Amino acid sequence: MKIVYFSVTGQTRRFIKKLNIPAYEIIRPIFEIREPFVLVIPTYDIEITKVVNDFMNYKDNREFCKGVAGGGNRNFADVFVFTAKDIAKNYDVPLLYSFEFSGTEEDVKNFKKVVMQIES
Ligand SMILES: Cc1cc2nc3c(=O)[nH]c(=O)nc-3n(C[C@H](O)[C@H](O)[C@H](O)COP(=O)(O)O)c2cc1C
Repeated sequence: MKIVYFSVTGQTRRFIKKLNIPAYEIIRPIFEIREPFVLVIPTYDIEITKVVNDFMNYKDNREFCKGVAGGGNRNFADVFVFTAKDIAKNYDVPLLYSFEFSGTEEDVKNFKKVVMQIES
């Protein structure tokens, strides 16, 4: 299972580094993935995260998405990780996990477990 992630200020990138799972960062130009992946994305207004939708809409990319995890900040309360929730709804994939900033050691452990379950 590959990880595909997006990061603006580096928190999500730091989380991904701790996982030790092969990962691709979403940057332009958008690339074609052609293998199963879990999406990990931070939470921002759509103007900032539109590139994630562009990635999902590119060729058959969305067909390979097994689920999405969201990074955010719980101070945002009701809109905590809304970007990942919106992606889950709009692309009909499960919301697998949510965490704050670059995640705790516990988050790393739990998220890896979730990814392993999808693989089995
Ligand atoms: C302008 C701005 C808006 C944000 N809006 C939200 C939000 O609505 N909900 C949320 O859970 N987190 C929100 N966050 C927190 C980020 O999603 C969080 O810090 C995340 O870890 C950043 O990831 P990145 O460093 O990989 O870009 C916001 C952060 C900024 C700077």
